[in-house]
Amino acid sequence: QFQREFVLTEKTGSKKNIGLITLNRPKALNALCDGLMKDLSDAVDEFEKDREIATLIITGQGKAFAAGADIKEMQSLTFAEVVTGGFLSHWLRVSQCRKPVIAAVNGYALGGGCELMMMCDIAYASETAKFGQPEILIGTIPGAGGTQRIIKIAGKSKAMEICLSGNQFSAAEAEKMGLVSKVLPPDQLLPEAIKLAEKIGNNSKIVVGLCKEAVNRAYETTLTEGLNFERRIFHSTFATEDRQEGMSAFIEKRPPNFQDK
Ligand code: CAA
Repeated sequence: QFQREFVLTEKTGSKKNIGLITLNRPKALNALCDGLMKDLSDAVDEFEKDREIATLIITGQGKAFAAGADIKEMQSLTFAEVVTGGFLSHWLRVSQCRKPVIAAVNGYALGGGCELMMMCDIAYASETAKFGQPEILIGTIPGAGGTQRIIKIAGKSKAMEICLSGNQFSAAEAEKMGLVSKVLPPDQLLPEAIKLAEKIGNNSKIVVGLCKEAVNRAYETTLTEGLNFERRIFHSTFATEDRQEGMSAFIEKRPPNFQDK
């Protein structure tokens, strides 16, 4: 367990095998300043290395998940500075995590906040959550996946409407377009996210990691290539002891005892 300036971390769940990361800059609605994104990357590093941790959850303290990149920090940056500094290039860390990451969206998920949610593998939202890509309203465009990921989830018309208007939309709308998989009353958001993380955590970590890799491949490649990749990954699970254990347990009518081997 460790604490950083902008991010709280804790091991939770009945087996303490879930890494809970809470964005903790509530006065600025968890605006994603450079320090917060560094703390978040470090927290992901820490939980990814920790062999006990099966699944990560990211949520926000206060009334926001995250209200986007820090506008006060960006306001005076020049083109030369953002280009030479590779501004936001280190934001990809969450999308590169080998373990499953669940977003528990407790409030505003705007701009970079919505993009951070889309970097996660699964999103649950509170009924009170609000989504949007409002960058256009401040004279810029999404810079961490908004123009690329929404279109893959919700199609061109929705992506254009969201990015070009800057309009906010509700959790119910986000669920309808497939951006989040469940909408929950605020007090049930985290317990339900933990329940899902525990369910995933009961599976073989090695096979979960392979499965995540196969699903993600669908974003990057053609159907034929993706199906070939999936089949090879499927074949490779036959090299694990956990695959043998899972199938034996089914036949012997007992719960499996996965060893992550
Ligand atoms: N950056 C910096 N500070 C922010 C912020 C942001 N993105 N969002 C909110 N804050 C700060 C406010 O400045 C305010 O601070 P002060 O008390 O010091 O004035 C504090 O958080 C509370 O915010 P509000 O008073 O505005 O709260 P509200 O309840 O009236 O409104 C809101 C809530 C609708 C979310 C509003 O804060 C808002 O519109 N925020 C900006 C949203 C936005 O434009 N996000 C996109 C950023 S650009 C981006 O993300 C680029 C990218 O793709 C990576």
